[in-house]
Amino acid sequence: MRVVVLASGRGSNFAALAEAKRRGELPISLRALLSDKRTAPALLLAENAGVAAIALAPRDFPDRASFDRALFARVAKFEPDLVVLAGYMRVIDPDVIEPWRGKVINIHPSLLPKYPGLHTHARALEAGDTVHGASVHFVTAQLDGGPVIAQVELPLIAGDTPESLAARLLHREHGLLVATVRLLAQRRVRLGANGVELDGASLQQPLLLDDRGQLR
Ligand code: GRF
Repeated sequence: MRVVVLASGRGSNFAALAEAKRRGELPISLRALLSDKRTAPALLLAENAGVAAIALAPRDFPDRASFDRALFARVAKFEPDLVVLAGYMRVIDPDVIEPWRGKVINIHPSLLPKYPGLHTHARALEAGDTVHGASVHFVTAQLDGGPVIAQVELPLIAGDTPESLAARLLHREHGLLVATVRLLAQRRVRLGANGVELDGASLQQPLLLDDRGQLR
C-alpha cells in the first residue's frame, strides 16, 4: 500500500509509521510527506527516513481552494492508496477532498464525535470527563466529522493538565495510528456506502485499541 502523509508540525505520528515500517510491522511504502509549513520538523524526520519531503506554502496561492488543489495534485503524483493526515492543521476544501473519499484518514486527539476542532484536551478537562482519547477517521468535507474507524481511550488522572494529558495521549495515538493503517494496508477496512466496513461487514461502532496494541 502506497502511503502519503500530510503534517504541519512535529511529525511524531509520521515517525511512528516510519518506525513500524522499518521494523517490518507495517506493509506499506511511505512515498512522501507534504507540509504546509516550510519549517515543520516533520519534513526533517521524513528526509532522515529517506522519504520525499515537500513543503508548499499557502501564502503562495490566492486562496484556500487553489492551495488545496495544488497540494492534492502533488499528492496524486505519488499515486497513493492512502493519504494520512497526521497533525495536518488545515481544513481541506470540500471539492478537493471529495474525489478522495475513502482514501484519506485523519488522527484527532478526542473521542469523536466529542470535541472536533482545537483544544481537545482542555475541553475534556473542563467538561469533567473521566475518559479522554483519540480517533482515526475517514476524512470527509465535515471538519473532524467523517466515519470513525478506531479509537483509543485514556483515563484522566488527578492533577492532569492539558499538557500532561496531551503527552500521555500522544504515545497511545502512535499505537492507534499504526494499528489502523495496518488494517487498511491489509485491505480489511474500507469506507463503504453506509460507513466503515471491517472484513466486508458494517462496523457498528469504532474499533478500540487494547493495552497490547490490538484493535478489537
Ligand atoms: C496529534 O495530537 C494529532 O492527533 C493531532 O495533531 C497532533 C500531531 O502530532 N491531529 P505530531 O505532529 O504527529 O507529533
